[in-house]
Amino acid sequence: MLKKPIFITNFKTYEQATGVNAVELAKVHEKVATKTGKSIGIVVTSTDLYRVSQAVNIPVFAQHVDPIDYGSFTGHVLPQNVKNAGAIGTLLNHSERRLDLEILENTIACAQKSSLVRIVCAEDPDEVAAFTAFDPDFLAFEPPELIGSRDKSVSSESPDSIRDSVNRAKGIPVLVGAGINSAEDIRVAMELGARGFLVASGVVKADDPEKALTELVMAM
Ligand code: G3P
Repeated sequence: MLKKPIFITNFKTYEQATGVNAVELAKVHEKVATKTGKSIGIVVTSTDLYRVSQAVNIPVFAQHVDPIDYGSFTGHVLPQNVKNAGAIGTLLNHSERRLDLEILENTIACAQKSSLVRIVCAEDPDEVAAFTAFDPDFLAFEPPELIGSRDKSVSSESPDSIRDSVNRAKGIPVLVGAGINSAEDIRVAMELGARGFLVASGVVKADDPEKALTELVMAM
């Protein structure tokens, strides 16, 4: 069971967060988790899962898996392999890796079969409500137009949608993301019912990721 609120950094495929840099950045996250006592996870590329999981003792997630089992599926991401590589869960349906509804449903089921924690991304409160039917472990609300923004965030631009998402999530914990850069962004979303955060550039692209991460998690 993951402790909430949880702060999750999505490493995406940023240069600062892949390969050996992924290991270094993961260690920064582990250090901040230990120092602050906050619940912190990371989402890394499938090619970095094993080495990152070996290097740190914080929850590591995959960025995606495919709806397959062992067999003839060249080039696919096998959920059980992700699990065996050290991931405790997977992100699914991120705005940068959207899935058709039927594929999403099958993928969630396959991830569950491999006992992976399932974080399903939704672009608006309607999707949050619709995806509750798949019974994910977390719903992550991220308006795509605010992803990567350095001066606008879901908290500053769309607080009503955060409240709406929380109200329509049927008790499934909602993570909030897109443009989260400041302690104020965190505080606003927490007051509206967020149970955690999904952040990328605010940490990965910060001049001092350790400082940025510490400031953000301390506001939770
Ligand atoms: O998955 C997190 C992400 O899409 C948010 O990105 O850069 O706006 O924090 P960012």
